[in-house]
Amino acid sequence: MELINGKEIAAQIKMEIAEEVQKLREERGRPPHLAALLVGNDPASETYVANKEKSCAEVGMLSSVYKMPENITEEELLKTINFINNDDEIDGLIVQLPLPRHINTSKVIAAVCPQKDVDGFHPVNVGRMVLGQPTYLPATPMGISMLLEKTNIDTEGKHCVVVGRSNIVGTPVSILLSRNAKNANCTVTLCHGKTRNLSEICKTADILIVAVGQCEMITGQYIKEGATVIDVGMHRISDPSKKSGYSLKGDVKFDEVAPLCKYITPVPGGVGPMTIAGLIINTLKAYKKLIEN
Ligand code: GUN
Repeated sequence: MELINGKEIAAQIKMEIAEEVQKLREERGRPPHLAALLVGNDPASETYVANKEKSCAEVGMLSSVYKMPENITEEELLKTINFINNDDEIDGLIVQLPLPRHINTSKVIAAVCPQKDVDGFHPVNVGRMVLGQPTYLPATPMGISMLLEKTNIDTEGKHCVVVGRSNIVGTPVSILLSRNAKNANCTVTLCHGKTRNLSEICKTADILIVAVGQCEMITGQYIKEGATVIDVGMHRISDPSKKSGYSLKGDVKFDEVAPLCKYITPVPGGVGPMTIAGLIINTLKAYKKLIEN
């Protein structure tokens, strides 16, 4: 079994980007600038946004966090997005999800101009991804693809089983890995809440990607010996022995599954840092104006 060190791979990617940013900011007179909208006080979302800010600083990018109260109206949120869309000094804009229930998430995502949509969530950018056209790839699927590439895991013709069909991870990663492209060309099975015989299907996976949001759901029974397992889950479990008061667990029962795998991502330090690297890559793309509106 070999651990896939997402933290190290992400650090390498960020170092390369930092060099490019340093060169470009001299030419262009300002660094790349990412804006993040954070609504409410969800501790996980606050941590994600803080980590994104930290990574921006590490690579020499500017970031601005627009913090808004839980009870903000949809109209006010849309107004802020419109304001940022029209700000020439801001290259990328993300709205941290999930949003409070009274806000229509689809409407908010569609309000971000596609050129600044560095999450790759806008319907125009999702369409471009499906068609294989230049776009912002969503950060976690891109991060997973880069992990496989940098670990030299052969994907061509391999059976990839994805568990979870969210718009953010499961659905786009299934599309990305099934495309006719380098580091893709998998035969993909997308499993979800209505899938029958889930463990039997997972057991046929050469590459198993788990993004269900259920702590330690995937046990040894789901694993083919020698598989590659990518764990997208992130759960805070109360743990008084830790300084923070919690420890992090994935969707995969690591201790049981790891001995069966050829490669596996740890939690933390696997997919998480790669998601942020993906966002940084997209922000640089936005700054270079590589994607159309
Ligand atoms: N919430 C969970 N993952 C993500 C992500 O990649 N981007 C945003 N904006 N929100 C998220």
